[in-house]
Amino acid sequence: MTEDSRSSTNGTKTSSDTLTVTDNRTGETYEVEITDGTVKAMDFRQMKVNEDDFGLMTYDPGFTNTANCRSSITYIDGDAGILEHRGIPIEQLCEESSYLEVAYLLNHGHLPSEDELSTWTYEITHHTYIHEHMKRVLDGFQHDAHPMGIMQASVAALSTFYPESKNIDDEEQQHLAAVRLIAKMPTIAAFAYRHRLGLPYVYPDNDLSYAGNFLSMLFKMAEPKYEVDPRLEKALDVLFILHADHEQNCSTSSVRMTGSSRVDPFSAVAAGISGLYGPLHGGANVDVLKMLERIGTMDNIPDFLQRVKDREEKLIGFGHRVYKNYDPRARIIRKYIDDVFEATGKQSPLLDVAIELEKRALDDEYFTDRKLYPNVDFYSGLIYEAMRIPTDAFTVMFAIPRVSGWISQWTEMVRDPELKIARPRQIYTGAREADYTPMQNR
Ligand code: ACO
Repeated sequence: MTEDSRSSTNGTKTSSDTLTVTDNRTGETYEVEITDGTVKAMDFRQMKVNEDDFGLMTYDPGFTNTANCRSSITYIDGDAGILEHRGIPIEQLCEESSYLEVAYLLNHGHLPSEDELSTWTYEITHHTYIHEHMKRVLDGFQHDAHPMGIMQASVAALSTFYPESKNIDDEEQQHLAAVRLIAKMPTIAAFAYRHRLGLPYVYPDNDLSYAGNFLSMLFKMAEPKYEVDPRLEKALDVLFILHADHEQNCSTSSVRMTGSSRVDPFSAVAAGISGLYGPLHGGANVDVLKMLERIGTMDNIPDFLQRVKDREEKLIGFGHRVYKNYDPRARIIRKYIDDVFEATGKQSPLLDVAIELEKRALDDEYFTDRKLYPNVDFYSGLIYEAMRIPTDAFTVMFAIPRVSGWISQWTEMVRDPELKIARPRQIYTGAREADYTPMQNR
């Protein structure tokens, strides 16, 4: 197994599961317990050179080898290309389930019965409206405001509309926050899109599915009823399932870290949106499109791949910190591309470039030796572009479904008896005991 490929650990414990550590500074030997394939960082604090010593700390920038919580929501094995929610493989969920059912599964820990699903769907459908004053919040943004900036600020603003959500231990409030967030994210995203175009907002249509209603709020014009193309509706629903949760990534960890202060869930989720806003997290599919545009035609692919090997370029949409195999989400997305292009009647020369680029890279030892395979972003941008989603709203398309993961992780966290406010340590590298220099002497 490569160093970073398994993101979750689920080791089983035997009585001999201990680690013997000899501190060569003192010659002392310590026995540290191994539980679930981990050692406790605090067990190292007893290792001191003398009584006044603070004790050993662990150093892990980027938390590349530190588990921050126990979670039973999502399991990833990057070597084998496995992604499971509550144990169910992502392939089965995309094939058999719907986004709202997956959101229920993440949040409640089990698949819903027929009654439970219909109540959950009813609740989400009937919480899609936003307070009319929220529209004034939206109206305050510049016409060219970035949609992720609007989304981040709007979700933070929701906390002021629902002050009762501060009762974070109240299970009814936890549930309501989940329902409200999952219900209102598409409304906020669609209103932000129409605000930019100067178009009137389209209110939610309760007769439509979650994905269908979102398409209606984006694209409905003068027609009395928006006709949803079932191919687009299905593809969007699958994209939502694929982005619902991915365990302790940057944005989810931001939700947990912020939420550990016991702030309300809307504020914690707004922190997650900020994490996702960054180009290293939610923005790679935009860079894939830019890369395909730069390549332009199939003739340029060999030259481009050579430049990647010469390290002058990166093959964006390939490689993943956790997956060292085909990202299972990329494989699933690929199946819906033809349907989306057929439904939109679009011809994209960039799609042909992407397919050929993938084929050649997968045939090339440079990429296979480094375990570089397509990730979820390789094709998602092309699909969103075909659906007429503006490029800078691609990250919003990621945030809408990820809210179900964020709020499920938040709920799990606030119910965890081991919850502590997150407060990492540092290695201090600055000056000590320096005297204050008066201004005239500097
Ligand atoms: N193109 C070319 N070479 C690559 C790429 C790539 N996309 N990704 C990794 N490599 C090479 C590295 O140069 C390195 O080669 P070397 O061993 O000869 O030096 C080797 O593969 C290992 O790469 P690392 O940087 O160690 O891989 P890491 O796990 O740190 O990086 C990352 C993962 C950041 C995703 C990287 O693969 C990358 O930049 N990919 C392109 C951006 C992208 O698609 N991001 C989206 C990820 S999916 C998501 O976030 C939802």
